[in-house]
Amino acid sequence: MNIHEVFAQQFGADEDAFEVRSPGRVNLIGEHVDYNDGFVLPIAIPLEVRLKVRPRTDRRVELYAANFDERGSFSLDDLSKQDSWIDYVQGVASELADASVPLHGFEGVVISDVPVASGLSSSAAIEVASALAFTHLEQQPMEPAYLAKLCQRAENNFVGVNCGIMDQMAVAACRENHALLLDCRDLSMRQVPFRLKDHSLIVTDSAAPRELAGSAYNERRAQCEEGLRQLQEKLPHIMSLRDVTPEELQQYGGDLDPVVRKRVRHVVDEIARTVYACENLEKDNLEVFGECMNDSHQSLSELYEVSSPELDWLTSWARMQPGVLGSRLTGAGFGGCTVTLIENAGVDEFLEEQPKQYKASMGRDARCWVCTAVEGAQVL
Ligand code: GLA
Repeated sequence: MNIHEVFAQQFGADEDAFEVRSPGRVNLIGEHVDYNDGFVLPIAIPLEVRLKVRPRTDRRVELYAANFDERGSFSLDDLSKQDSWIDYVQGVASELADASVPLHGFEGVVISDVPVASGLSSSAAIEVASALAFTHLEQQPMEPAYLAKLCQRAENNFVGVNCGIMDQMAVAACRENHALLLDCRDLSMRQVPFRLKDHSLIVTDSAAPRELAGSAYNERRAQCEEGLRQLQEKLPHIMSLRDVTPEELQQYGGDLDPVVRKRVRHVVDEIARTVYACENLEKDNLEVFGECMNDSHQSLSELYEVSSPELDWLTSWARMQPGVLGSRLTGAGFGGCTVTLIENAGVDEFLEEQPKQYKASMGRDARCWVCTAVEGAQVL
């Protein structure tokens, strides 16, 4: 689908129109730690949402979603939930209005090749794209971190999903050929070179349902809060699980409820692991980085319990293939995607075999992409 042709069919001439691109993301390591003030390490991937829009003279927003062959619209003076994809755009409008940013109506086309509900942050991509469209029309450019926080609030408050800050930050602030080491406590960031020469990153969509993801995600967050509350009785200085060292957990974790203890163990280890993995990425020690990916998956599967038979199958199969350094689930878990770091020589065979073997064993149609790190969202 060509966005210009679709625009012409739906809206006619395109004077005054402009384009926004906004990518999906995968997290290399640092899972379920963003809401515990930890470190995450995402890249933006070459699957993206595109918007082509032009201003309107009234206060309506009207978008044609080419993937669904469906129009969505709303008035900036009447933002109310429609339980449709347009809610992401409305949510952003609502947060911008709350932040006293003047808003202008617009119309146009949205096209996306980020698969929906696969854990690649298609929702963060459309939120950030809409925020860029609104702010570009008003000529009010915003810092990526400000924009990301606003989009996170749109998702939390309007759409009603209790996500952390990682996805919106990744979409808004990632740079080409870099991974983003993000400190979720103060949103300080470091761009870490991620230009693999002899290796590739493969993203595999398990095509498994993510029904449990929402409720289990909230339950995990509650368990972390409970762990923090209990540990604060012994360690009054801690503000979040980020402040707990592995030694302190060893010493004081014994009294925690066993399930809560497992969750906290994952978070404390994963934060330390992410920093360590990133140091090794910077030194080009990809072997060690791969081991950290494997350890992260094991911890997510056994301690945090957010993996699934499909994700466990894909990652263990991957680890048995020649040239694979590491493989793990990425994103919230339960379904969604895995990321695998592999030597270039093994890529073709992997891409051919993994979906075949997975279909034979698990009965589902996986999709694989080789992903480089692309630039975060921008007005073109
Ligand atoms: C989802 C959330 C993120 C983060 C991950 C788990 O993608 O939207 O904020 O919590 O899960 O790391």
